[in-house]
Amino acid sequence: MPISKKVSTYLESASWIRKLFEAGNKMRQDGQGPVYDFSIGNPDLDPPPKFKEALKEVALDQRPGQHKYMANVGYLETRQAVATSLSKDFHLPFVPEQIIMTVGAGGAMNTALKALIDPGDEVIIVVPYFVEYKFYIENHGGVPVMAAATPGFDLDPDAIERKITENTRVVLINNPNNPTGVVYPQETIDQLGARLELHNKHRDRPIFLIDDAPYRKLVYDMDTCPSVFHAYPHALMGTSHSKDLGIPGERIGFLAISPQCVDWQRVAAAAAFTNRTLGFVNAPALMQRVVAKVQEELIDLEWYRRKRDRLVAALSRMGYNVPHPKGAFYIFPKAPGGDDIAFIEALQRMRVLAVPGTGFGMPGYFRISYCVNDDIIEGALPVFEKARKM
Ligand SMILES: Cc1ncc(COP(=O)(O)O)c(C=O)c1O
Repeated sequence: MPISKKVSTYLESASWIRKLFEAGNKMRQDGQGPVYDFSIGNPDLDPPPKFKEALKEVALDQRPGQHKYMANVGYLETRQAVATSLSKDFHLPFVPEQIIMTVGAGGAMNTALKALIDPGDEVIIVVPYFVEYKFYIENHGGVPVMAAATPGFDLDPDAIERKITENTRVVLINNPNNPTGVVYPQETIDQLGARLELHNKHRDRPIFLIDDAPYRKLVYDMDTCPSVFHAYPHALMGTSHSKDLGIPGERIGFLAISPQCVDWQRVAAAAAFTNRTLGFVNAPALMQRVVAKVQEELIDLEWYRRKRDRLVAALSRMGYNVPHPKGAFYIFPKAPGGDDIAFIEALQRMRVLAVPGTGFGMPGYFRISYCVNDDIIEGALPVFEKARKM
């Protein structure tokens, strides 16, 4: 076999999202009508106008040396803009030295995990989970350990605590959550933080709490997203502008280390090193200069809220068991009949693509990614209705 045995097994159990993406591409070319694709989280809306203005301004800047390597952590001016914005959001005194610009949230996760774990260390994740976490953790020799969420998909501090062993190095949460759209309340994150603090009393180094938060600004029915920074000192947040500015293709994000984190200077130095040695070297230069100018901008949240409300109301009327998600752009209903794979295949035969819960470690459910145009939603509703009755 020419390739790694490990990657070979990964390829055989290829992610459902990828499979559906490929199925969708084939269907789009078969000439048999529209495809209603709810399978991936690729926002179908343009970034805010100020993003394009900042992009033009940066492109026209004639100062020399703008396309060179820079410090692995990124430009100071960008990290200062991020630190100022985070200090305002979280009422904590972030400084640029606590910010590492990364290649998206995915880059931030890998940079952080590589910096914190040794081979064999355990990383607790919550089921259902973002499918890439297993790969990210195993990239660095870590061992993913699954903890159940509550029946309403909130964090379950008891379940997480039961999974803690002497090898636990990191608890990785994702708020707002993909695939459920649930936003963990501050109260539950605080409870988790308190449990971790208790465990730290018996350890020579603390467990780290990482929040993968690329959807943190996509929250509805509340002003701000609850945060790990208020709950626990040894906290890191990886995020990006993939979703809040609608620019996932530009690969720009950052890792933020809590000002209260134990020896944050050493953690930051480790992350600068791993950002480099994972081959990222630094986050894209042009985009760093652009996002420094638009930290307070946001895509049109109403665009998402309307779609969520339309879908949740319509699906509930049809008899689906749909929770009312408060964040991100996902809905995670129960699959009628209980067999998520059979249900997804039935939808696919009617040209609607959604992802089975099995792909997120949670059979019996399916995920709808509603970052799509209204005509896709309206075109698919009769199919959802038909599938519900099958
Ligand atoms: C939970 C979660 N984490 C990380 C990512 C990766 O984000 P980025 O495109 O910023 O790397 C995604 C993308 O969909 C996601 O849903």
